[in-house]
Amino acid sequence: MDEVEVKAQPKTGMVTVYIMGQAYRVPAGLTILKALEYAGFRLVRGVGCRGGFCGACATVYRLPGDYRLYADLACQTTVKDGMYLAMLPSTPAERRPYDIRKAKPRGETLLALYPELARCVACNTCTKSCPQKLEVMEAVQAALRGDVAKVAELTFDCLSCGLCTMRCPAEIPHYHVWQLARRLYGAYLAPKAEHLARRVEEIAAGKFDGELDRLVRLGKEELRELYKAREIEPE
Ligand code: SF4
Ligand code: SF4
Ligand code: FES
Repeated sequence: MDEVEVKAQPKTGMVTVYIMGQAYRVPAGLTILKALEYAGFRLVRGVGCRGGFCGACATVYRLPGDYRLYADLACQTTVKDGMYLAMLPSTPAERRPYDIRKAKPRGETLLALYPELARCVACNTCTKSCPQKLEVMEAVQAALRGDVAKVAELTFDCLSCGLCTMRCPAEIPHYHVWQLARRLYGAYLAPKAEHLARRVEEIAAGKFDGELDRLVRLGKEELRELYKAREIEPE
């Protein structure tokens, strides 16, 4: 999302943030997540990996003198003086049921389950809201064209944080659509890994049973030596 110039932001010392309307003094430089905990909030929802991967810590905020509503991950965003913020530990959005074994990898499947897609007004708000900087609107357009593989590719890094869904005027539950597209892609469109299929057959035929038994019986030191001496694929 666009960076906003907030004048005279202290780099050290304390700043004031408004958490759900109430003012708290917190150290400058903390992430929103750490500031919440510093202020005494015990997070049961709205926190997971703390590293920008799980999408649990979606947060909306406004900055002083700026009317815009910003959306970001609390664990990846530092507090700014005068920031008003609220966490969105979950975005309400219905996930429509389907049986992936019967679903077809086509745009019709996406549209039948999520007809809201057709209401997209191409405002690009979803793209601007995405903390992963995904081309969200482009993914919606790909879904409308029936290009399931493109949807899966564009949304591979989606965290299901729900921030796009929260702001979409067409009420599209994007992250459920993306998940469906990736499942369809994985089940039907992705090239099959033949070497993997061969290896699974070898495992099923017991090719590695003896070696595994031997490993299980080894002591810690022997395992360590074996690990050090392992074959490493050249880079
Ligand atoms: S926010 Fe909704 S309506 Fe706007 S471009 Fe994204 S999907 Fe379309
Ligand atoms: S596409 Fe939507 S749900 Fe996925 S990471 Fe971006 S904003 Fe979050
Ligand atoms: S806690 Fe997982 S993305 Fe922030």
